[in-house]
Amino acid sequence: MSRPDLKIEFIETASHAGLAAALHQQCFAKPWDEASFISAMSIPGTVLVLASQENEPVALALYRYIGTEAEILTLGVLPDFRKRNIASTLLDRGGSYLNERQIETLWLDVGCRNHAALCLYKSQGFEEAGRRRNYYNESGNKEDAIVMRRRISSVEP
Ligand SMILES: CC(C)(COP(=O)(O)OP(=O)(O)OC[C@H]1O[C@@H](n2cnc3c(N)ncnc32)[C@H](O)[C@@H]1OP(=O)(O)O)[C@@H](O)C(=O)NCCC(=O)NCCS
Repeated sequence: MSRPDLKIEFIETASHAGLAAALHQQCFAKPWDEASFISAMSIPGTVLVLASQENEPVALALYRYIGTEAEILTLGVLPDFRKRNIASTLLDRGGSYLNERQIETLWLDVGCRNHAALCLYKSQGFEEAGRRRNYYNESGNKEDAIVMRRRISSVEP
């Protein structure tokens, strides 16, 4: 279910790289820094989606698309704002944005032990398409990545 009260912005330049890095730092154990967002945003077809509540940014997603395919590079919601359908809204609105650009399939990687994210993506219609063994390696703690995909064309623009 989407949250109509959230302000959703689609940003196609590196103008918000610092803000994205600050949000990312609160969402992930191994966050991307500002330079990583600047570098990612320099590639055409990359779009940062920011969600704000009462003018405070609370979540981000980074998509990249080419041809009829797209991927989610990262997605996170600030800890205090989780379980309020904010990630679902970012996925709904991101899907509409991609549908308007004739994208047919959306891909992502998710850690096989990331229970919350796996539940989120399954609830949003993603299906497992493969597995990358030991894809993540945090301080020797290895974790497989599950590759997931979802058809986009069923999302109404
Ligand atoms: C994963 C994450 C993005 C979910 O964000 P969120 O805004 O809390 O998700 P939503 O509220 O939209 O949840 C939608 C559905 O996802 C599932 N879900 C979300 N969090 C869950 C949790 N902690 N446990 C189980 N299921 C969960 C549920 O099915 C939920 O639907 P429900 O509320 O009707 O039960 C958030 O926990 C997060 O930022 N985690 C850290 C960063 C991360 O792991 N990102 C994903 C990298 S691939």
